[in-house]
Amino acid sequence: MNEAPASAAFRIRLLRPDGASFLCAANQTLLDAALQSRVAVPYGCGVGRCTACRARAVEGSFKRLDTLVNKRAPAPDVVYPCCTKPLSDMALSYAEV
Ligand code: FES
Repeated sequence: MNEAPASAAFRIRLLRPDGASFLCAANQTLLDAALQSRVAVPYGCGVGRCTACRARAVEGSFKRLDTLVNKRAPAPDVVYPCCTKPLSDMALSYAEV
């Protein structure tokens, strides 16, 4: 199954010293959820064009939206949070991407 119920919410952990985490609804992008929770993460365009939000999905599954950066065939674990929605709890790393 590739879609989570719209009402589902997943815990997104950031693998960084402050141990930040936030909840992300299944129908929300990872970036929108981080900003809504006031968790500071890198981003630029917010619409899948610039790659500034690039991160690595260390754990969890996700769905890529149809955007320019996602069409450039990122590595399987590379995600662009502005155009990625969770399908499970996830752990993201912004280091060494
Ligand atoms: S913020 Fe530009 S690609 Fe995600």
